[in-house]
Amino acid sequence: MAAPGEAVATAGEDRSAMQVRLAMATAVGQAVHQVVDQPRVLDDPIAVPLAGLSPDLLRSFGDSEPRHRAGRLYVASRSRFRDELIGAAARRGVRQAVLIFPGLTTFAYRRPDSELTVFEVDNAAVQTFKRERLGVVGVATGPGVRFVELEPDGKLRAAALADQGFDRTKPCVVACVGALHFTSPTFVADTVRAVAELSVAVDFVGDFFDRPDPAAPERENLHGLTAALGFPPRSFFTVAEMNAELTAAGFEILANLTATQVCARYGASGPELDRNLANLHLFHATTTSGMTRDVR
Ligand SMILES: C[S@@+](CC[C@H](N)C(=O)[O-])C[C@H]1O[C@@H](n2cnc3c(N)ncnc32)[C@H](O)[C@@H]1O
Repeated sequence: MAAPGEAVATAGEDRSAMQVRLAMATAVGQAVHQVVDQPRVLDDPIAVPLAGLSPDLLRSFGDSEPRHRAGRLYVASRSRFRDELIGAAARRGVRQAVLIFPGLTTFAYRRPDSELTVFEVDNAAVQTFKRERLGVVGVATGPGVRFVELEPDGKLRAAALADQGFDRTKPCVVACVGALHFTSPTFVADTVRAVAELSVAVDFVGDFFDRPDPAAPERENLHGLTAALGFPPRSFFTVAEMNAELTAAGFEILANLTATQVCARYGASGPELDRNLANLHLFHATTTSGMTRDVR
């Protein structure tokens, strides 16, 4: 049985390969978004080369099931939401962004902001693969990006970030999108607490699945899609349950949006989004009162 926070590998596949496959599947979806969806939610000039597939092949993927379209529009929308949040924090003077489980996310490479240091926290195999792909397409990582490997037990530890230059006495913005639901409820709770204690002031954006409507067909649901791809979600929270985890950890909730609301912010809507994204939520929370928080 997988330990908390561990990926569930399909038969014959090791966990690292499975996580690379998931990161790559998400990246291909974002490359398809660049060439198929109009108007685009997110302009990402690195997405297509990073995926390594021809625009014609990417276009051919665009004709697939409606839930694929819903999935890529949501991933693009949550990425844009995260990017804007980090951008706003940077304008307020925040200089540290931590991306937990970024996979092949291109944020740090699309916005080589000399004043912002981006800490990418992920599994070693995903990071190795990402660095190889970035190298192949000629995207430099530079000093503004620091790769932090997860501990062998999968846990996030401030010490590992500090080793890469993270300053716990300074505010930070933390994003963990598209990943918490692949981990156990205990792991989610531990991660929320660890994030709250990362530094004196933490702005946190994340997303999660609520329990699916038992009457809704599995095919018409994003969690059904991730399961079909070999990645069944392992934790479900109601909004009230997630709010309770966040507030218990010291966060104040600033926003709670449904996935369709996130998409609508950027002009993406439609019945297939309403159906397929029904039980997906995104939160934005902060420990700003923690400006006086003691760093343990
Ligand atoms: C769906 S991708 C999302 C990537 C990125 N955050 C985004 O929004 O595009 C999930 C990422 O979570 C990471 N991950 C960590 N633990 C995982 C687990 N137990 N199961 C699946 N993925 C896991 C993988 O490395 C993968 O890159």
